[in-house]
Amino acid sequence: MTGLGMHTLTAGRGLIFGGDYNPEQWPEEVWAQDAALMRAAGVNLATVGVFSWARIEPEPGVRDFGWLDRVLELLHDAGVAVDLATPTASPPPWLGHRWPQTLPVDESGHTLWYGSRNQFCPCSPIYRERALALVTDLADRYADHPALALWHVGNEYGQVCHCDVAAQAFRDWLQDRYGDLAGLNEAWGTTFWSQRYGDWAEILPPRRAPYLVNPTQRLDFWRFTSDALRAHFRAERDVLRARTPQIPVTTNFMGLFKPVDYWSWAGDEDIVANDWYPDPADPDFPARAALTHDLIRSLGGGRPWLLLESATGAVNWRPHNLPKPAGQLRLESLQAVARGADGVCYFQWRASRFGAERFHSAMLPHAGPDTRAHAEVRAHGAELRRLAPVVGERVAAQVALLHDWPSWWALEEPGRPSDRINAVDQLFGYYHPLWRRGVTVDLAHPESDLTGYACVVAPNLYLISDAAAQALTRYVAGGGTLLVGPFSGVADPNGHIRTGRFPAPLREVLGGSGEAWLPAPADQPVRCRWADGTPFTASVWTESLRVEGAEPVATFVDGDLAAAPAVLRHRFGAGTAWYVATIADPAPQAELIERVLADAGVVGVLSAAADTTTAADTTAVGGGPRELPPGVEAIRRGPLLFLLNHGADPAHVPIPDPAEDLLTNELVTGRLTLAPRAVLALRPRS
Ligand code: GLA
Repeated sequence: MTGLGMHTLTAGRGLIFGGDYNPEQWPEEVWAQDAALMRAAGVNLATVGVFSWARIEPEPGVRDFGWLDRVLELLHDAGVAVDLATPTASPPPWLGHRWPQTLPVDESGHTLWYGSRNQFCPCSPIYRERALALVTDLADRYADHPALALWHVGNEYGQVCHCDVAAQAFRDWLQDRYGDLAGLNEAWGTTFWSQRYGDWAEILPPRRAPYLVNPTQRLDFWRFTSDALRAHFRAERDVLRARTPQIPVTTNFMGLFKPVDYWSWAGDEDIVANDWYPDPADPDFPARAALTHDLIRSLGGGRPWLLLESATGAVNWRPHNLPKPAGQLRLESLQAVARGADGVCYFQWRASRFGAERFHSAMLPHAGPDTRAHAEVRAHGAELRRLAPVVGERVAAQVALLHDWPSWWALEEPGRPSDRINAVDQLFGYYHPLWRRGVTVDLAHPESDLTGYACVVAPNLYLISDAAAQALTRYVAGGGTLLVGPFSGVADPNGHIRTGRFPAPLREVLGGSGEAWLPAPADQPVRCRWADGTPFTASVWTESLRVEGAEPVATFVDGDLAAAPAVLRHRFGAGTAWYVATIADPAPQAELIERVLADAGVVGVLSAAADTTTAADTTAVGGGPRELPPGVEAIRRGPLLFLLNHGADPAHVPIPDPAEDLLTNELVTGRLTLAPRAVLALRPRS
């Protein structure tokens, strides 16, 4: 960890606003127009060179930096700082042609060829050598360039390779992990189906096989792949840091992206940055965006982060790409800022005329600057200047939502009781009611220090270490409130089922245990009732639990589980633990969250004022009195209260104290009407 961060970038610039710039796609006369238009739009950062390997190194060992010199000069003269990319995400065809062993191979043994991008094996020494040579020359050339403000390593790391080179690297990684074959055979449970390994050379990545592949082999391959990508990232980063210790380094994450364990990566970077492309066709995307932004902020330990890529309008890679209505760009950008971003950038500055992304939206569309899309970009660039007081401010959360990549990998292995219980749906199912209440949430690793949080929510911890289970137990004993979702505490870090009644390592703290996981018939509601007899429905999943000190807050109604507990609440030490043995429908899920928050003494940022709202204001899911009006998001960042209306209708929101909207300079007080897509950044009136 260096002392560098977003503050290095925002110093003297304020909030960052910009986008990917690919001048190599355009004749030089366009570059000067671009620089002038960027300046007029308030752009202060351009990501340059992400896909320029072939342009910089047209033949092995040859360098052509002249064009890039001119681009950096032009941008610098226009007051646009440069996020200079190491162009190693897309090797030129010559690499794969001359050294086909650098190309990635899928699990069926098929080579993934050049003609697209990302075609490299992260374990390839030849790729590594070529990439680092290029990065070294790039860093040497631009180390002292005044435009250089940020290094962008690679792009969206996520390559998975099953080739022979990767196989050897996997073996080396396994040898480090297990020491000897006996340890590996034990961890992988290779007595099952006669899979015992007698020689390291026999071990392969999980290639395509006749039937289900060993789940621990696959779990370790997920771990290995994440580590291999990280090792390459770090190798490039180290070259850069050695030459420019004053310039922060980042790479672009992809939110809840399964192949890479971002908890393990985040500390390697100076700035945590994310690419985020919400689907306008998904009615839940505002809450999914909030969850993603909270994750990215949390990966950086709460420090300001950078939204490095998003789309001004439609993307081109969904089967049917919905555009964004007027005002949406602004709303989405300010949502990221409200949740801790100190900068918002887009893919890309100028829309491509050719190539696979010719129909992707851009800050400057094909139709040019005289367009609604570009007018919105300019207006937003200007507006962001008004938000200078937010720069560097933190978001304080009382609730931690646990997420763990190895648990995600292990949970979703084939051959499980149901493929209808999965990590991201569970995470979102517990996050959404919190978001609806304006309760601010950090994401956290299960083994992190949780003592500062009033409430910890673990939507699913299928795989749990002893250390995490003990920490959670101590957390509750010390006065915390813990909520654990179904199918948790099942497996150890090798993915082996923990025997005994489940969730074995959490049994004591939860005050109850189970003997069987019982998926419910498809499309049939699971009938339950709260302890007062009020019915509710759930779906997909049930468990046969018994009480061991907890109170059954809800029970199942039908069949073998009639009157058996569905939800447990257990006073343990100075705190309370909850366990949920089903997947409740949205309304009872909201009710459950309400009760847990009451135990924890947590209320949303607007709740005091919201208590005075009328029923008509709070008719959303669950109808809970503490829910925000439908579509409304509320979050505090430092002294500022952000209110956003993602809904299609005007919403009425009570304001706790008289405040000034930084975006308009207007004074607001009492009950406020938020138009659709409106955003307010309220500063208390001093
Ligand atoms: C990702 C990539 C970009 C571009 C966009 C398109 O974020 O990093 O290069 O392909 O997707 O949405």
